[in-house]
Order: sequence, then C-alpha cells, then structure tokens
Amino acid sequence: MLTRLKAKSERKLAKQICKVVLDHFEKQYSKELGDAWNTVRAILVSPSSWQYAVLLNRFNYSFELEKDLRLKGYHTLFQGSLPFCPKSMKCYLSRTPDRMPSERHQIGNLKKYYLLNAASLLPVLALELRDGERVLDLCAAPGGKSIALLQCAYPGYLHCNEHDSLRLRWLRQTLESFIPQPLVNVIKVSELDGREMGDAQPEMFDKVLVDAPCSNDRSWLFSSDSQKAACRISQRRNLPVLQIELLRSAIKALRPGGLLVYSTCTLSKAENQDVICEILNSYTNIMPVDIKEMAKTCSQDFTFAPTGQECGLLVIPDKGKAWGPMYVAKLKKSWTT
Ligand SMILES: C[S@@+](CC[C@H](N)C(=O)[O-])C[C@H]1O[C@@H](n2cnc3c(N)ncnc32)[C@H](O)[C@@H]1O
Repeated sequence: MLTRLKAKSERKLAKQICKVVLDHFEKQYSKELGDAWNTVRAILVSPSSWQYAVLLNRFNYSFELEKDLRLKGYHTLFQGSLPFCPKSMKCYLSRTPDRMPSERHQIGNLKKYYLLNAASLLPVLALELRDGERVLDLCAAPGGKSIALLQCAYPGYLHCNEHDSLRLRWLRQTLESFIPQPLVNVIKVSELDGREMGDAQPEMFDKVLVDAPCSNDRSWLFSSDSQKAACRISQRRNLPVLQIELLRSAIKALRPGGLLVYSTCTLSKAENQDVICEILNSYTNIMPVDIKEMAKTCSQDFTFAPTGQECGLLVIPDKGKAWGPMYVAKLKKSWTT
C-alpha cells in the first residue's frame, strides 16, 4: 500500500501542469507576490529544477556518505550563526538540481538519510527543541519533521499525531526506518483529529508544531484530474478555518511559557499571515516571537518574501535555491492567562 502511495506521487511529477490550478495561482500570487511570482512560477512548473536536500540520520551516521556528498558539490546548511542550530543536525544542499536515490525500506535497517525540501527544516529549528522536553507534532505524516526534530535533541516525550489512517501507516514506517528502538519507546503515535488534541492533553507540551494541511502549491499544480482540482480550489477557502481550529487545539495542548510553531507549504496569505493574525487578535496570552534573525542568517541558502510580520517568514523558490514555498510563524504562550 505504502509503495503504491510513493509510486503514485512519483507518477504525479511526470504528469502535466493542471491549467485550472495554474490560472488560479496566477491570479492570486501575482497580486500577493508581485514580480517575484514570475520566478516562483518558473520553478514550480518545472520539477526538473527542484532541489532535494539530504538530511543525515544521526542514528546511522556514515562518514562515506558525507564524503560522497562533498565530492558531488553539496555543502552544509546553516553553517552560519543561526540563533538555534544543534550540531547533531546535518543537512547537505546542492546549488544545482539533484536528487539522491531514495533508500529502500528494510525491516531492521535504519536509513542513512532523508530527502526533503530544505525549507522544511526552518519550522523544526524555530521550535528550539532541547533534550528532555515534551513535544507534539500535531499533523505529522509522512514524518519528515518528526525525523528532523529527533536530529536536534532527545525529547523526553514526542507525540506524533496524524488524522489520515493511510498516511499514519506511512508515518509509522518513517519512524521505524530512521529511529532506533530505544528511542521509539519515547514516541507516541496517535490518529486523532488534531482539533481534539487540546482537550485530550491540555497543557501537556513544552513545544508544539502545527505543520498544517494546506493548499500544497507544488503538488496541486500537478493534479491529474482537473475536475477534482477545480473542486479543491473552490474548497480552498475552508482551509483557514481548519488551520485556525488546529492552532486553537495546539494552544490548549501547550503549557504556559511553551513555544508553538505553525508552518505550511503554500504561498497563500489567507492560509499564512491571515491565520496567524486571527490567532494573535483573539488570544491575549499568545505572543508573537521575532524570527527575523533566522531569515538574516540563512539568506544565502533561502530567498524570503516580505510577510509584514516579525514572527512570520515566507520562503519562496528562487534560482539556485529551489526550496519552498514554506511559511513559518513562531508564537509563545505567556505564563499568565
Ligand atoms: C503538511 S502535511 C504534514 C507533513 C509532515 N509534518 C512532515 O513534515 O512530513 C499535513 C498533514 O496533516 C494531516 N491532517 C489533515 N487534517 C488533519 C487533522 N484534522 N488533524 C490532524 N492531522 C490532519 C494530513 O493528512 C497531512 O498528513
């Protein structure tokens, strides 16, 4: 089943651009991004220009692999002075489009690396996970960010939640493929609707990541069924409601003084800045956390579009830096209600 899911996503990339989606994005994003949209569009519609970063698995470290990557012209990400960047997390990037082969899943063998959109590491780093902390990954499948969190620290407790049962199996397989058994014991996997988590586990977590279901610009552009795509687009306006409900639940699950990171892989202002504005306007105990410094220190590897927010960053794909879209916002729950 899982192999079929992967094969399906690979076939998707070989398919045509969906004109309905492209036209819709064209209207919205040329307004929201201005001239930058032309470059972003050129990259999004050409999968051969997409880049895949290589996140090394510290639980099955390979010196040979690191040497190979350097020989191939890859360099490490976040060498600069990010406010928080644990040495244990090693990610390699190439300036030219390249994709290392995916490793096969073999029971009992840990994989050496995970391929990902490098911008996915920004929400993980923004969470500043430390050893012993209790962390919730509310929308976790297929597990890329959970794996990345575990490269940063040894949490006291990691709760990975995913509502979709097929994707939940994919998540379990990812965890099995990258994490050694003793560590798997501190991970709980659940299949709740994330909107219920706050009531189920109030004030339980030091850190919460809400990597929300969103328009997923890259994959929507390659929808094979244009009727389905049109339907998705018409339902797109409902996504911010779900995203806000997930955030409300995450806020309940967070302890006072805890950190919350919200991320999406869409450029859409309605699903990004507007969602965060709504949350900030409706809670007196939720504070924005300034993450401009993060953008400054990694501007060599990522291109950011202005968001008008100090607590929110938007990575847009650019030439030689085909990462993103990725929106990241960082919030803190104050000690007083
Ligand atoms: C952007 S993806 C998460 C990607 C994941 N964090 C990673 O890095 O691999 C969003 C996920 O949210 C899940 N989802 C959708 N609605 C949900 C809900 N109500 N509660 C929890 N998860 C939900 C989707 O099935 C999807 O797997």
